[in-house]
Amino acid sequence: MPRVARLSPSEAEAALPDLARLMHAAVEAGASVNFVLPFTLSEATAWWTDAALPGLCSGKLILFAARDDTDLVGCVMLAPATQPNQPHRADVTKLLVHPRARRQGLATRLMAALEDEARARGLTLLTLDTWTGDGAETLYRGLGFNEAGRIPQFFQHPVDRSLQSTTLFYKVLA
Ligand SMILES: CC(C)(COP(=O)(O)OP(=O)(O)OC[C@H]1O[C@@H](n2cnc3c(N)ncnc32)[C@H](O)[C@@H]1OP(=O)(O)O)[C@@H](O)C(=O)NCCC(=O)NCCS
Repeated sequence: MPRVARLSPSEAEAALPDLARLMHAAVEAGASVNFVLPFTLSEATAWWTDAALPGLCSGKLILFAARDDTDLVGCVMLAPATQPNQPHRADVTKLLVHPRARRQGLATRLMAALEDEARARGLTLLTLDTWTGDGAETLYRGLGFNEAGRIPQFFQHPVDRSLQSTTLFYKVLA
């Protein structure tokens, strides 16, 4: 069973090639996580290096990863809100499970680790959005997230670029 752990900034930096491979595999398999096909491994590496690493090093992003004996097969990030009037809130971003490791409870375990960290930090509200109608909606509902609403024509389909809706979710942490 893959091990789920929070990665320190130095561990995250060392894992960048693995994180890029995971993201590349997920997008190639049809995941809608801000990218459209064609999507190269170099683009995935650039995203982790340029967009995520600064936040991971500064503590603005907290990364959880799942590894099995051969690979990094899952990740998710907690992004505490930076607005001065929202010290209790965080976004959930980039929940990814490798296609070969899906439907084995890995996303559920990654989200449990993320929620434990959020609670430990005194956070009381998690927010996220996901592709309307995607399986991830079922996952989030099952984890106790509530639908706040839908926004039509929010992003491009990763394959055919038609405009797709996003569903906003929130969870109040007990
Ligand atoms: C969505 C995703 C993270 C789920 O990861 P996972 O490890 O397979 O999820 P889990 O095994 O923890 O699933 C728990 C439950 O969520 C629901 N679920 C998960 N994936 C589902 C799917 N594709 N369709 C329908 N329900 C799904 C099921 O109820 C599942 O329980 P079950 O397997 O006993 O039926 C994974 O498919 C993925 O990485 N997708 C691409 C990226 C993505 O969409 N991320 C979310 C963006 S916000």
